[in-house]
Amino acid sequence: MITENQPNPAGEILGVDIGGSGIKAAPVDIRNGTLKAEPRYIKITAETSPKEVKKHLEDIVQQFNQPKAIGVGYPGVVKNGTALSAANVSSGWLNLDIEKFLQPLTEGKLRVINDADAAGLAEMRFGSGRGHNRPDGGTVLLLTLGTGIGSAFFHQGRLFPNTEFGHVYLDNGLEGESFAAASVRVKQNLSWESWCERLNYYLKEMEKLTSPDLIIIGGGIIENFDKFKSRLKTVAPVKPAQLGNDAGIIGAALYASM
Ligand code: BGC
Repeated sequence: MITENQPNPAGEILGVDIGGSGIKAAPVDIRNGTLKAEPRYIKITAETSPKEVKKHLEDIVQQFNQPKAIGVGYPGVVKNGTALSAANVSSGWLNLDIEKFLQPLTEGKLRVINDADAAGLAEMRFGSGRGHNRPDGGTVLLLTLGTGIGSAFFHQGRLFPNTEFGHVYLDNGLEGESFAAASVRVKQNLSWESWCERLNYYLKEMEKLTSPDLIIIGGGIIENFDKFKSRLKTVAPVKPAQLGNDAGIIGAALYASM
């Protein structure tokens, strides 16, 4: 079971966040959840193959001087290091044992976790979720709004992995992420107001299903949180991810330390 209270060995670990539109990576000080260097960003598309991603990662690892371990956030279901879904990335990832495939990048440990679960671990340990682990009020739902919608679900600090709430179907017959992801606002040229109406519709469904005590919003949308926060109509309080869009990198590195 993954918890956010594991012992925390010192040292530098490379955190990698593979997303639908780019790879971000930086060395992370997992003692305090800070980045030790500016993140590297490499654009990818849904067509970029796992081999090409590995090549990019080889370059990044070189640049960061052989990190002692690597944590990778992958945007799909991950079980025992293997990808069991590939919604917004190349189908080449499906059923790939990513840990085995990327292990040659380092002589140290290499671990792979769902990207939103990674962001959740980081926010619970270092960010907006800190202290939200009481028996009577410790249900936290983190949603990353980017190309898709990622979810991380915690109770009393324990992660329930691979929840995939972005794929919940709403009463209007649409999948949550194809209705309310941040990318949908851009693709469909929606105003903040009408996109936020969609987000409220999605959040209402999520609250019905999970009754969270706190909702944390993360992902690429977070730099625009001010543009929509006053329009949110949830029962639970909503906080922006305190670590911003770096939460995924930080959480992936943290996971590699567990
Ligand atoms: C995937 C999730 C992922 C989310 C954000 C969804 O399409 O199914 O696993 O966490 O996108 O990247």
